[in-house]
Amino acid sequence: MEPTPAHTDALRSRIDPARVPNHVAIIMDGNGRWAEQHGEPRIMGHASGVRSVREALTGATEIGVRWITLYAFSTENWNRPRPEVEALMDLLVKTVVNEIDELHDNSVRLNAIGDLDSLPPACRKTLEDAMARTAGNSRITLTLALSYSARWEIVRMARAIAEEARAGGLDPAAIDEGTVAAHLATREMPDPELLIRTSGEQRISNFLLWQIAYAELWFTPVLWPDFRKEHLYQAVVDYQGRERRFGKTSQQVGTT
Ligand code: IPE
Ligand code: IPE
Ligand code: MG
Repeated sequence: MEPTPAHTDALRSRIDPARVPNHVAIIMDGNGRWAEQHGEPRIMGHASGVRSVREALTGATEIGVRWITLYAFSTENWNRPRPEVEALMDLLVKTVVNEIDELHDNSVRLNAIGDLDSLPPACRKTLEDAMARTAGNSRITLTLALSYSARWEIVRMARAIAEEARAGGLDPAAIDEGTVAAHLATREMPDPELLIRTSGEQRISNFLLWQIAYAELWFTPVLWPDFRKEHLYQAVVDYQGRERRFGKTSQQVGTT
């Protein structure tokens, strides 16, 4: 069921512009189930999810979100049947090629995190070209997590810090949270305040474990290809209704 524009506008008007999350992360899940429900092959679910990416991106841009990070392909997703993996990589290339002009025109900076060396060369090249072209854009940063997992990232961080310590450039006693954050793939990004997962699953599936330490989690049964701006706005309205205490008491944070 398509949301009506009036409903989407009504939700948007409930958002307090002063408290919009700076960074929204999304686990885009449910493409396979969507395809199954429509009697289509799984790849059609992935292809139909491209529209939802556009909706999430434009919706986020319109309310002033500055960073949006999408979990597009996990380290574990390499274990899917080969034809599905290949189709996903093809879809990624086609989508970036089709969308890059519009992204650039809208001042979107494209970014990617993950083990990009493991991607097929054509895929990596397309991404690198798109990232280079949009590097100077500043309205919103769209980060695709590709061949990404948080444990991969944490292992890599530990190795990099150990190497620096061994080379004598870093005193182990001086390692703090800032050191760790500075060695993660997300080093230039603020932590997400809001994490959305579609498809009804309530798990993190190896996404941004360090960075979501204090994120608000929002789960919806909506399957990713059905995700529209109104769902993003609903998530932001719910987020704004929550009290983020960061370990303090309700009285301390001032809204009882
Ligand atoms: C998410 O949808 C897309 C990727 C993980 C690449 P799924 O493909 O996981 O869809 P379901 O969970 O099987 O429905
Ligand atoms: C998480 O979805 C990865 C992405 C959305 C890219 P999965 O469908 O792979 O996660 P699990 O297997 O249900 O945990
Ligand atoms: Mg899934």
